[in-house]
Amino acid sequence: MKRKNNLIFGGWDVVDLASRFGTPLYVLSEDAIRDRCREVQSCFLKKYENTHAVYASKAFLTLAMCRILETEGIGLDVVSGGEIYTAAKAGFSMEKLIFHGNNKSPDELRLALEKGVGRIVVDSENEYDILEGIAEEVESEADILFRVAPGVDAHTHKYIATGHTASKFGMPVLGDGITRIVERAMTSRFLHLKGFHFHVGSQLKDNMSHLMAVNVLLDLISNVRDRSGFLTEELNVGGGFGVPELPGEDPVKLSDFIDPVMERIISGCEDRGLRIPQTIIEPGRWIVSEAGITLYSIGLLKEIPGVITYVSVDGGMTDNPRPALYGALYHGVVANRMDEKASMKVSVVGKCCESGDVLIRDLEIPSIKPGDILAVFNTGAYNFSMASNYNRNPRPGLILVSEGKADIIVERQTYEDLLRGETIPEHLK
Ligand code: LLP
Repeated sequence: MKRKNNLIFGGWDVVDLASRFGTPLYVLSEDAIRDRCREVQSCFLKKYENTHAVYASKAFLTLAMCRILETEGIGLDVVSGGEIYTAAKAGFSMEKLIFHGNNKSPDELRLALEKGVGRIVVDSENEYDILEGIAEEVESEADILFRVAPGVDAHTHKYIATGHTASKFGMPVLGDGITRIVERAMTSRFLHLKGFHFHVGSQLKDNMSHLMAVNVLLDLISNVRDRSGFLTEELNVGGGFGVPELPGEDPVKLSDFIDPVMERIISGCEDRGLRIPQTIIEPGRWIVSEAGITLYSIGLLKEIPGVITYVSVDGGMTDNPRPALYGALYHGVVANRMDEKASMKVSVVGKCCESGDVLIRDLEIPSIKPGDILAVFNTGAYNFSMASNYNRNPRPGLILVSEGKADIIVERQTYEDLLRGETIPEHLK
């Protein structure tokens, strides 16, 4: 039953969800994810010819998420054997996978070849050697891209900037390393080079870095054509499209971000006499972040008069490490007191033994009681996927909601789950 005092999300009274499924609880709106996928369809895939979109699964991946993406015609960017395995288990079409990573293991590369992953993005010349060796050994061909570090410094937290020359990802555009490896790939029997990839960074609020990187890449594409005769078929411009963090910030429209990038590619190709390559995008956060909220039960309140008031919740940096890692900002509401006026300013803290376990600073809320439900918005991306069991806290359950449906898609961990795989050696028994 919907009560007017309670927050409604994805068509559901979240206070009811909290009492039915327990807290902390991740809640994901299927409709919100599908809406974003449809925006990708209308503002990119249908609007521009010869385009392809993959979702960056590191943002959030489960079996159910794979099914949603597949039914929306979106592929997957994966970065590990675990992500490939998840997609395979969900019955995802393997040719729609793009496999990234700066240190893919030989086993992961073998798995990718065996499963027939659509593209392998080679990160370095060393990796090229290893992949070519494995492809020869298993007699399997693969379509590849080269990841390029375009030397562009994106304006975001330094931990999530990836396009600069000193980045651990990709091959620097300076020097003739890329031409050399392109020429090697042109004669490879097993590896078929289709083009290039860049990813400049994450949670970007504008497309300046993408535009600069496109210029760099088009120069590279034209150089390798002139020097080696290599014709680039694909240009993958990565993800990184940001999301608003706090109320009052406007959502990022995909077309505002991507139209200028496409215009730059089209005009840049014309200027250089290049055929327009297939353009690929890899949004992660933008698809799923705003589709998720996390529900917590409020526990103890601690007021240090004249200094600060803490409100503790039953989760924290274990289910959302982003504030502690990147200083990320979140907003929340007391979900069972939606029509009550704010009367205090608090810091919302988790239950971990870390002073940095602060989810939200200076949140204005009405007066509360233990057992009230705090809903934190915008937690769909990089929360579940980066969660930990620190302090031996079991991970929250995850439910997928849509009109009339609320399904558990990931069970809440039990204490027994925490012990899975542990043994006591004989001499300690
Ligand atoms: N493509 C590649 C090759 C990437 O490395 C990434 C993200 C993406 C696409 C998707 O980026 P997005 O659209 O989600 O911004 N844990 C950090 C984010 C790390 C992103 C790493 N790469 C966070 O919580 O902010």
